[in-house]
Amino acid sequence: MKRHSSREFSRIYQSKLSRFLGIALLCALIGAAASAHAQAAPQTPAILLGTAWYPEQWPESRWDADLALMQQAGIHMVRVGEFAWSRMEPSEGHYDLDWLDRAVAAAAKHGIVTVIGTPSAAPPAWLTQKYPETLRTMEDGRKDQHGNRQQFDFANAKYRELSRAMAEQLAKRFGHNPNVVGWQIDNEYANASYGAEDKAQFQQWLKQRYGTLDNLNTRWTTSYWSETYFDWNQVPIQTAYGNPGLLLSWMRFVSDTWRSYQKNQLEVIRANVDPKQFVTTNMMGWFDGYDHYTVAQDLDLASWDDYVGQGHLDPVRNGAAHDLTRGLKGKNFWVMETQPGGVNWADINNWLDKGEVRAMAWHDIGHGADTVSYWQWRSALNGQEQYHGTAVGPDGTPDPLYPEIAQIGREFEKASPVLAGTSVKSEVAILHSYDSRWAIQWQKHNKNYDPVKEIVSFYGPLRALSQSVDVVPPSASLEKYKLVVAPGLNVLTEADAKNLIQYVNNGGHLVLGQRSAMKDIDNGLWPDRQPGPLTELLGGRVEQYYALVDPAPIEGQWGAGESPMWAELLSAKDADVEVLMRYGKSNGWLDGQPAAITRKVGKGRITYIGAWLDPKTMDGAAKWMTEVSGVKAALGPVPTGVEVYPRYGAKGAVYILANFATAPAGVKLPSIMNDVLNGGAVQTITLPHYGVAVVSAEK
Ligand code: GLA
Repeated sequence: MKRHSSREFSRIYQSKLSRFLGIALLCALIGAAASAHAQAAPQTPAILLGTAWYPEQWPESRWDADLALMQQAGIHMVRVGEFAWSRMEPSEGHYDLDWLDRAVAAAAKHGIVTVIGTPSAAPPAWLTQKYPETLRTMEDGRKDQHGNRQQFDFANAKYRELSRAMAEQLAKRFGHNPNVVGWQIDNEYANASYGAEDKAQFQQWLKQRYGTLDNLNTRWTTSYWSETYFDWNQVPIQTAYGNPGLLLSWMRFVSDTWRSYQKNQLEVIRANVDPKQFVTTNMMGWFDGYDHYTVAQDLDLASWDDYVGQGHLDPVRNGAAHDLTRGLKGKNFWVMETQPGGVNWADINNWLDKGEVRAMAWHDIGHGADTVSYWQWRSALNGQEQYHGTAVGPDGTPDPLYPEIAQIGREFEKASPVLAGTSVKSEVAILHSYDSRWAIQWQKHNKNYDPVKEIVSFYGPLRALSQSVDVVPPSASLEKYKLVVAPGLNVLTEADAKNLIQYVNNGGHLVLGQRSAMKDIDNGLWPDRQPGPLTELLGGRVEQYYALVDPAPIEGQWGAGESPMWAELLSAKDADVEVLMRYGKSNGWLDGQPAAITRKVGKGRITYIGAWLDPKTMDGAAKWMTEVSGVKAALGPVPTGVEVYPRYGAKGAVYILANFATAPAGVKLPSIMNDVLNGGAVQTITLPHYGVAVVSAEK
């Protein structure tokens, strides 16, 4: 098959050089500066535009042309190495990292810093051939094989030994390289392994957690269906339709195993690198293959891969995923991957509209990202992802999207001094728990019930009204929030219940959404009806839950609407409990019964919403929740479809605005502000479809 000849590469490079003469001049200046101060890292903006770059896939003679094009687009960070194990260690114990050293240095000459990925997501063929036990066992018992990626067994000792040695080599070589700013361990942890070794480790894990089989049998109610265990080695792996205690334990084991898998590499990285270099791993937003809180606790920085796939950016769903990622470490995060236009893995891989990629980049920054990095720069000529969106084509020249990426690059550079040191602050928190999401997924009770959609149904209107929401686990410290909403907090541990009770007693407003507080720490039913340990505080409870075929009408303070798939019949036991919404005529059981109740507790308040609210009624509910809790819009009212993202720093607030409505929108700011992207001062802004503005109140 035809490949680019070196002549072709040099032709492309020369034409780029003549086209971007100014840039080349700048590169030369930076290059000269770099060699004069060999150890000085490139000065990069506070808000970074980056890209995944795979130098191992291209002749070295081409690197400089790519890097010049990146520099021209305002790209200041490359993420390299995360699938290059076969190039880094072509045979066991023989490491070749010189090429990577040259790639890092070449990038630095263009003002570009590097994040190095450890390559453990893609083991080389010699490794899995020599040590077949390192291959993961799939759920159906078959062994995975070489040829894709993520084919390793995350619990296997040999694999850990080899991946640690590889990470150590990298850390030793680049740990004090000033051009390397951070590390990404592996790539998108996802595939668990289900073989004999994994099972034995799971059983050992159970022994440590439960101590005795008696304890495990009681807490899992294994007298049900004769599930009683007489020996630890009888406990199976189950991932669906098993004992709920077993299912939850397996997922907790998987989460702990990813944590220890990561720690195995983290230890050798931390031991060898400058503490200024951060360590992260790229997560996947709503992905629920492990508990992200468990895995994130050892990292310096949270990062995730923000994709749309088919269709267009859903600023609410992707926005909530940003906030979830921000909540993992309670601080700004990175978007380690995002799509330059389109992907190759959706049903229909449509391209994002013109201007949408830019709006998406600002959406990221608005939610607290400090870096937006594209996947990827240029498609490999072969390999599984040939059709994925890129910034330059297979011929090495810019795609039509390139100028839009370059615009983002320029804008990030311009806004960086204003955004440096700023972060997100919210008055509203949404509680999010993997235990609860899994518990509902395993027993949906209504096939249409999606726990993420439930969270997003609350998040959307609450965010529109408050203009900023944190997404945090139920164990988080909650004092700073005026309103805490727990949609579908199905599993509620005693410790978390205490945290919530304390929050309300200290004057906070807690809102529980449908299916809350039904299960205990072992995914067993609380013997009290919902909301279990919060029943006394609520002064009412859930008498019965109903999965609905036909929607149930609801009516009350939040207007009239319907509950499309789920209805909990509430009772108000204490006299001071107020009924906010009632069901209309439905299945007889629900007719006229409470659907939402609230109770003032000292200065605090607790509310329970038992119906899945339709969007209009949810708008009414969100309005009530924010008003009664004293939550204000961060900037003030804006037209529907315009999103506001406040970030705060020592010099005050910076507001990013983006218009996702198809019609242009006019926004009147509460005062005259600095127009960060265009210069000057503004009070009225007109935002076209996908238009973006950045304004600051700084004097
Ligand atoms: C993931 C991976 C990348 C790439 C992209 C394609 O996010 O981390 O390596 O496969 O998907 O969208």
